[in-house]
Amino acid sequence: MPPDTMNHRTMRTPTFFIRTYGCQMNELDSELIAASLVEHDLCPASDIEQADVVVINTCTVRDSAERKARGLLGLLARRKRERQPGLVLAMCGCAAQARGVGLLDEVPELDVVCGTRRIDRLADLVQRALERGDRTSDVADGDLADLRFEAALRSSRVKAFVSVMRGCDNYCTYCIVPYVRGREVSRPPDGIVDEVRHLVERGVREVTLLGQNVNAYGRGLDQALDFSGLLERVCAVPNLARVRFVTSHPKDIGDRLIDAIAELGPVCESLHFPAQSGSDRILARMNRKYTRGQYLGLVERLRDRVPGIALSTDLIVGFPGETDDEFAETVSLVEQVRYDSAFMFKYSPRPGTAAADLDDDVPLTVKKARLQHLLRLQDEISLAKNQALIGRRMEVLVEGPSRKNAERYTGRTRCNRIAVFEPCPDRVGQLALVEVVDATPHTLHARLAPPA
Ligand code: SAH
Ligand code: SF4
Ligand code: F3S
Repeated sequence: MPPDTMNHRTMRTPTFFIRTYGCQMNELDSELIAASLVEHDLCPASDIEQADVVVINTCTVRDSAERKARGLLGLLARRKRERQPGLVLAMCGCAAQARGVGLLDEVPELDVVCGTRRIDRLADLVQRALERGDRTSDVADGDLADLRFEAALRSSRVKAFVSVMRGCDNYCTYCIVPYVRGREVSRPPDGIVDEVRHLVERGVREVTLLGQNVNAYGRGLDQALDFSGLLERVCAVPNLARVRFVTSHPKDIGDRLIDAIAELGPVCESLHFPAQSGSDRILARMNRKYTRGQYLGLVERLRDRVPGIALSTDLIVGFPGETDDEFAETVSLVEQVRYDSAFMFKYSPRPGTAAADLDDDVPLTVKKARLQHLLRLQDEISLAKNQALIGRRMEVLVEGPSRKNAERYTGRTRCNRIAVFEPCPDRVGQLALVEVVDATPHTLHARLAPPA
């Protein structure tokens, strides 16, 4: 039988490739999915072109995010039709959850649709597709009780994401996340602390605790423990150098959390707490449950109690009904707070959310102009703040070669800035002091400081 008519899958171990879109939750889920595919005797492909199985882990937070995943699916479906009929295609993540079984009808080349609370089943579904050609969809609820975080195939050996809760109960009116990730559930603390200890024993120095609203941690647990209490327990793990956490909802940041940031050594002096808008009317329509005044009060308390704390935010422009004056309030919020960094987005209506019933009345050209305005402003602020660091010595955690330039190594400062400096292979995974020599809005150019 000539080789090209043989079923190559019987000849060797099938390989897989995962393409991940969206937030850190999806990145962590992909690390878990990779581990379970390996346990099912698949092996990672070096690139997507070589793979027998491609898993697309999707995001649907904005239409543009979902379109990217759909675009890739379209390309892969063509590859399957034209030159690789045995290619197995799986879609998981938030867009898969939102679209469900309909995707299988829509895309005949797709084999597996797997929901956000069924990722523990994904490898089984992929195996059935490989062995029997089954096409299946599973987007049911699940408690993910069997997830084995310890086994996750980590993409970095220096830092790791650790899930502390899943889902979200906040129902901000623009947001699809509660619908695709389910109800908020906190993970029991013992498992979290054990996982952190396990990671540190394998050389990880920095963990980022993940949840849509980590400040709500502890609700519904058997024991009384809030997020500050969890931070305390995580920080007690020996040899853990740094702890970060995302995301903090401004309505749930209390003095206990601010004290924890100030007092717990490993907790980095940086906080991501999305404002979304600077206008009280828009904040109310977004169901954010705080006012501009309360938000600014929080900024003041944070800066007072944690000198030098780096603050970052998410902002949405063009929410339904946002007037020029209301947008100007977001601009003035950015000017007033002077964030260290900000992620900014054009409002994108998501079917099924409360805001999708409102008229999406801010024209695209206006949304674009507002976004450009904010991006330019934030770039100026980030540049000025970074330039003010020139000449300063800062601690970085050395991660390894920079993805953009293999001649340079990269690491983050405690305030979450990216620094690039000369290669130092012996110091990967260690804390090092660098001296800042130049700065752009998003990067500090530095050199390793001679030991003091
Ligand atoms: N749980 C986090 C982040 C969730 S999604 C939080 O509460 O902040 C990340 C960001 O995407 C949000 O902070 C918001 O700024 C943005 N976002 C969410 N839905 C959006 C939508 N429909 N259109 C535009 N941006 C959106
Ligand atoms: Fe979405 Fe709001 Fe929940 Fe964040 S807190 S995930 S923005 S609903
Ligand atoms: Fe994250 Fe996108 Fe889902 S932001 S939670 S991957 S919709």
